[in-house]
Amino acid sequence: MTNTPPIGIRLAIRAYKRTSNERLKRFLEKKIAKYTGGFMYSKVVRDLYEEEYGLHIGYGTYGGCWVNGQLKSQGYRIRIGNYCSFAGNISILAVNHHLDWFTTHPILSDEINREKFGIFVNKNKDRGITEIGNDVWVGQNVVILPGCKKVGNGAVIGAGSIVTHDVPPYSIVAGNPAKVIKMRFNDETIERLESSKWWEMSANELHNNAGEIQSLIVEDI
Ligand SMILES: CC(C)(COP(=O)(O)OP(=O)(O)OC[C@H]1O[C@@H](n2cnc3c(N)ncnc32)[C@H](O)[C@@H]1OP(=O)(O)O)[C@@H](O)C(=O)NCCC(=O)NCCS
Repeated sequence: MTNTPPIGIRLAIRAYKRTSNERLKRFLEKKIAKYTGGFMYSKVVRDLYEEEYGLHIGYGTYGGCWVNGQLKSQGYRIRIGNYCSFAGNISILAVNHHLDWFTTHPILSDEINREKFGIFVNKNKDRGITEIGNDVWVGQNVVILPGCKKVGNGAVIGAGSIVTHDVPPYSIVAGNPAKVIKMRFNDETIERLESSKWWEMSANELHNNAGEIQSLIVEDI
């Protein structure tokens, strides 16, 4: 069996890559997703996002991450794991401008000025990649700032939070600045879930094994 998408999808992908009309792009990506498994599971639309924006959105991940120009524009600095739930209006701001140059304006890194000023090579201060783990639930209107480089597996970020630091696995953080308000599970359960790596399963495998995975949760006595 071949993995090449059918001709209609290939044409839509070609049109998507050629147009700069955002409304047309949105229309096309919805169609591409619809006929290749939906935004939740489509490999085709994931490959397209990687190619066009450098944005990795893992298998099973759905919601606001798919309609977000801000994520696309910083895509090559962001990696999102599998089975995450994204509410609307979420920003992941992966970089700061330089605070130690005489201006925070990007003029010093323009191509033309680069030769003149020599040392000012990076438009943005490089803060590496922001990694969102697997099974992360990000609430409405969340802002993740460059001080946060990793959101652990199973974490929850409350609506309206401003996240300034890394978020521990299976914690629930909320507020401005976001702080841990509680943990989802006890340490033993977290360890069991982390080692199970259930998020590497396909949707079918998960359906078949959901009971067993749920039984990894041990209650505090
Ligand atoms: C984070 C969240 C999951 C916690 O839910 P919960 O466990 O039921 O939490 P509670 O309502 O019991 O709140 C616990 C404490 O955290 C505070 N808190 C909860 N959510 C908060 C938030 N988003 N920002 C600031 N504080 C918050 C509460 O005020 C409460 O504080 P208190 O103990 O001082 O009274 C939930 O509040 C939330 O933000 N959900 C996101 C909803 C959303 O965006 N949905 C979009 C559709 S996907």
